[in-house]
Amino acid sequence: MKFKLLVADDEKNIREGLAAALEMDGYEVVTAADGTEGWKRFGKGDIDLVVSDLRMPGMSGEEFMRRIGAEAPGIPVIILTGHGTVENAVSAMRDGAYDFLTKPVNLDRLSLLVKRALANRELALTHRRMEEELEHQKQFETIIGTSAPMRRVFDTISRAAPTRASILITGESGVGKELVADAIHELSPRKGKALVKVHCAALAASLLESELFGHEKGAFTGAVSRQRGRFELAHEGTLFLDEIGEIDQNIQIKLLRVLQEKKFERVGGEETVETDVRIVAATNKDLKAEIEKGNFREDLYYRLNVVNILVPPLRERKDDIPLLIASFLKEFAQENGKTVDGINEKARSSLYAYDWPGNVRELRNCVESAVVMAKSHVITEDDLPPTLRQGSDEGWIRIPLGASLDESERIIIRDTLSFLKGNKSKTAETLGIGRKTLHRKLADRGAADDDEE
Ligand SMILES: Nc1ncnc2c1ncn2[C@@H]1O[C@H](COP(=O)(O)OP(=O)(O)OP(=O)(O)O)[C@@H](O)[C@H]1O
Ligand SMILES: [Mg+2]
Repeated sequence: MKFKLLVADDEKNIREGLAAALEMDGYEVVTAADGTEGWKRFGKGDIDLVVSDLRMPGMSGEEFMRRIGAEAPGIPVIILTGHGTVENAVSAMRDGAYDFLTKPVNLDRLSLLVKRALANRELALTHRRMEEELEHQKQFETIIGTSAPMRRVFDTISRAAPTRASILITGESGVGKELVADAIHELSPRKGKALVKVHCAALAASLLESELFGHEKGAFTGAVSRQRGRFELAHEGTLFLDEIGEIDQNIQIKLLRVLQEKKFERVGGEETVETDVRIVAATNKDLKAEIEKGNFREDLYYRLNVVNILVPPLRERKDDIPLLIASFLKEFAQENGKTVDGINEKARSSLYAYDWPGNVRELRNCVESAVVMAKSHVITEDDLPPTLRQGSDEGWIRIPLGASLDESERIIIRDTLSFLKGNKSKTAETLGIGRKTLHRKLADRGAADDDEE
């Protein structure tokens, strides 16, 4: 690309001399006899750098430079100044000139200055472009989706993220709840601070308590020193409480207090710790049902659920499938060093037809395995996991790779029950569990329990 320079000087000889020299360096040069003319020419918007005299009749170089700075702050201006006006040049520098040269102009120096200024500008532009791209990506590009339900999710995230309201993210396993939590933090004013994640289901109650609130030395056997909890670590940031439906009553009470008073005590401690934490929680449980059953405190629920983001299951937004496939294909082709860049019609329609009980996680795993299996650069139906190949599941239970144990159990019970035409006694017997256990499991999953046969 050829850079276009503007040279403004009221002395014709200087103006033309400089223009000629800069043209020799390979630039396109336009000239102006004073600030007014220069400003008019600059208005066309195609100038990459300006060389301007300070003292000119009509609009001075200072004014010209000031206008450029206001209009197009990235454009470098090199100021030329006569003998004895170095102070003016210095003040011009202060006003944002890139650099200055005294007259008579040393052409080699000018050439060097221009080259450097343009290189810096290029760099700054590239950097800014990259930053903008990254910023945009960070917003939602980690969460792929253009379907109407996902657009609604993005919309809620955009509106809720900047506030400090607690957010409860709900949705089935694998729908992308954690990605939503990440996006909330990134789009909030807390983004420079910590995003601390706690997987509530992974820890026993007593451990979880000290994990969240920390403990004092000697609070329990093994507490050899004071330990700060996640609430302290997340100070001024965001605390993501994953699987919030799993926490026990005792911790629910403590959590409620932190949400209400922004204060807590470490386990085994007296000192009250104040904390400024934004809470984002997630669950794949139906918390309303848990409240009914007395497992979850209603007051805590309302504190957590100031804003609710329901991430819909993949089967309710199948429009997102093609984009997700494309993105995962690219990711895993790269990761496996394979050239796989397409998927044939039959495979694509299988992926579309399937109802994805494991949601996006399952789709992601499926594309990964297909990429690994692919024998050519196009994925065919043969490369898909058996569960995906249409019509191959008669007499079998299909459990998607990536499903949790819980999810797998749900599928086993659901399919056995349906195979045995809804007969619960036979289902219990077939699965080798008691009828009561089966009833409990069905009730846990919110399945209607009153259709006794
Ligand atoms: N919209 C999406 N775009 C791209 N990747 C996604 C999307 N949704 C989910 N994923 C991917 O699917 C996987 C599961 O997502 P995530 O862990 O956020 O789900 P989750 O709802 O938290 O599931 P769980 O309830 O099991 O914890 C991750 O690898 C994630 O990157
Ligand atoms: Mg999760």
